[in-house]
Amino acid sequence: MKHIRYSSKLSASTLLILLLVVLAACGTSSGNGGGSTSGGASSCASPPKLTKTTGLKVGFSQNENTGPWRLAETKSMQEEAKAQGDQLIFADAQSSATKQIADVDNMISQKVDVIVLAPLTSAPLARAVMDAKNACIPIFLIDRDVDHSKAAPNKDYVTFIGSDFINQGKRVADWLIQKTGGKANIIELEGTTGATAATNRKVGFDNEIKTAPGMKIIASQDADFNRDKGRQTMQTLLQAHPDVTAVYAHNDEMAIGAIAALKAAGKKPGKDVTVVSIDGEKDALNAILAGELGTTVQSSPFFGPITFQNIKQYGSGQKLSDWIIVRDKQFTIDNAQANLPNSF
Ligand code: AHR
Repeated sequence: MKHIRYSSKLSASTLLILLLVVLAACGTSSGNGGGSTSGGASSCASPPKLTKTTGLKVGFSQNENTGPWRLAETKSMQEEAKAQGDQLIFADAQSSATKQIADVDNMISQKVDVIVLAPLTSAPLARAVMDAKNACIPIFLIDRDVDHSKAAPNKDYVTFIGSDFINQGKRVADWLIQKTGGKANIIELEGTTGATAATNRKVGFDNEIKTAPGMKIIASQDADFNRDKGRQTMQTLLQAHPDVTAVYAHNDEMAIGAIAALKAAGKKPGKDVTVVSIDGEKDALNAILAGELGTTVQSSPFFGPITFQNIKQYGSGQKLSDWIIVRDKQFTIDNAQANLPNSF
């Protein structure tokens, strides 16, 4: 009898401990609507929920923080967080996928309410998405997407907010075909290999160019979305392809680098060689006004307002679409001057 009473006392306290453990696990993050993790597998909603809209602790993982486009994106996020009264925990991955995964893991350890990720590359960064999901923290992708076979929107992450990169490439190609009368020898300077911005800008441009038999892509090489790498790559490619008549750069920074290389080789950008690109940064608009760049299709870096607006909508229980498309303008000699004041 004495033994039986001891056992029931023990099981009551064991139950109490178990209950406390379960409650602690459910409270791992204040704003994600609960959920528990064990050995990497999560038991929260897919995608994890956000149950508050104010006083948010938001992690923002930037893939690198150099160049006008990235700096403008970071500033936009910082300014909007401040305007909303939310706290922004910022990390710069310095162009390293490994560091960016570690940055996201660090934000998870800091128990942020929500994570915003601008992924460097598509396949490796799916891992960071899954880490956040397994920790029951909702994650939003902005500017670039990840590989959907590894992590999917409205399941593993909330949504992708960004431009239609395929369409950007197509618009540049259409302008170039028209401008050159459908005859050109093109050098293509690609963005960072594995980034959706590079992959899709190539697909959109190359497929459209194939529709014009006189347009030939004579070389295509990675210059990492970087001005000086654009200059160096162009310098090298020019030696092998002096017959170039057009340059398509996946961003303005590489286009400006290519313009410098063309000038150094004694060619006149805008006359001997038509240069076209994507982004719409201030230096590119000035290059259009100087007659050295033909067109740039905008890729807006101003993600702060649209990102926070969607985070708040999600926090108030709204379901978001898989892809929130950012609509882009196109700049030419006709509107470059008027758009200079709003450029970055
Ligand atoms: O992902 C967007 C691209 O990344 C921008 O075009 C480019 O400038 C940046 O590095």
